[in-house]
Amino acid sequence: VNPHIDDGGSSAVRLQNPFSFFGHTYSQIYVNNNGYLTFDQSWKNYTPIQFNVYSGRDVIAPLWTDIDNRANGVISYNQYSNGSVLSQATRDINQYFPGVNFNASWVFVATWDRVAYFNYSGTETSFQVVLISSGHASFVLMNYGPIAPTNKPLAAGYATDGTDWFTILWSNVSDHVNFSNLSNMSNVNVSGRWAFGVKRTTQGQHYKRYHSCSATETHHKLEHKRQQ
Ligand SMILES: *[C@@H]1O[C@H](CO)[C@@H](O)[C@H](O)[C@H]1NC(C)=O
Ligand SMILES: *[C@@H]1O[C@H](CO)[C@@H](O)[C@H](O)[C@H]1NC(C)=O
Ligand SMILES: *[C@@H]1O[C@H](CO)[C@@H](O)[C@H](O)[C@H]1NC(C)=O
Ligand SMILES: *[C@@H]1O[C@H](CO)[C@@H](O)[C@H](O)[C@H]1NC(C)=O
Ligand SMILES: *[C@@H]1O[C@H](CO)[C@@H](O)[C@H](O)[C@H]1NC(C)=O
Ligand SMILES: *[C@@H]1O[C@H](CO)[C@@H](O)[C@H](O)[C@H]1NC(C)=O
Ligand SMILES: *[C@@H]1O[C@H](CO)[C@@H](O)[C@H](O)[C@H]1NC(C)=O
Ligand SMILES: *[C@@H]1O[C@H](CO)[C@@H](O)[C@H](O)[C@H]1NC(C)=O
Repeated sequence: VNPHIDDGGSSAVRLQNPFSFFGHTYSQIYVNNNGYLTFDQSWKNYTPIQFNVYSGRDVIAPLWTDIDNRANGVISYNQYSNGSVLSQATRDINQYFPGVNFNASWVFVATWDRVAYFNYSGTETSFQVVLISSGHASFVLMNYGPIAPTNKPLAAGYATDGTDWFTILWSNVSDHVNFSNLSNMSNVNVSGRWAFGVKRTTQGQHYKRYHSCSATETHHKLEHKRQQ
């Protein structure tokens, strides 16, 4: 469980299995209270970056905004290398990415449960990010529960060096995006859930990425770069 500190986060979490994310392989992760994971060091920024611009580090951001868990909300994480969480992840990935023939060997889950926004907003916002690896392929799921309104900048997606990125939603104060719609959007026809293949593998001179191509996209505001 992360400390109840504004702009806080976990210390380095050693991963039981290395996680491959678009060409980098990481053995540690940071769960930052403001709604995103980083690998190289913790990050306190409460204003989201634009995911298509290289920020200098890889980021997986289920909901990057100014979160404040001092009064309410629990931010926690766990990793699994056996048991029912693995079977569920295996089922989910084979359903969303038919033909991949996937068998999960490791899962990392970070959950923001009924967290408030700065400054003691008292509201409750819940979401989760799940990293899934078979040792060969890796995937990320983002799950959205109820998302309380905020007038702060807010973004959901992931970023690497500017070549691989995805924006589920990016809202600047004046954009009037209805981000409570996050609970009702999907790229895999499951309300509130997004699934991404995040491993880059070389095949000859070409890069091949697993991606979700047949999914129904019911998003309102979506920018993304078609992969492969
Ligand atoms: C599953 O892994 C945990 C540690 O991660 C271990 O304590 C437990 O014994 C394992 N269970 C089985 C059935 O292997
Ligand atoms: C998946 O891997 C586990 C061991 O990690 C193995 O017991 C199981 O049989 C495998 N399942 C499939 C469908 O390959
Ligand atoms: C945040 O709220 C606390 C308690 O109401 C107050 O003391 C503090 O000044 C506020 N801080 C900011 C930056 O608004
Ligand atoms: C949107 O998601 C919320 C859960 O956050 C659910 O209560 C509501 O029924 C959903 N609405 C639609 C139209 O699917
Ligand atoms: C977001 O809004 C702030 C304040 O209104 C503005 O300074 C900033 O340039 C905006 N950023 C983008 C990327 O539109
Ligand atoms: C929210 O989603 C509903 C449909 O689910 C759509 O009609 C509405 O335009 C969306 N609003 C915004 C502001 O994104
Ligand atoms: C935002 O979307 C939610 C869920 O789709 C809906 O219940 C709510 O009425 C919408 N609000 C606005 C201002 O469009
Ligand atoms: C999406 O899921 C619903 C049930 O939740 C199903 O009725 C529908 O056929 C699915 N659509 C697609 C394109 O798979």
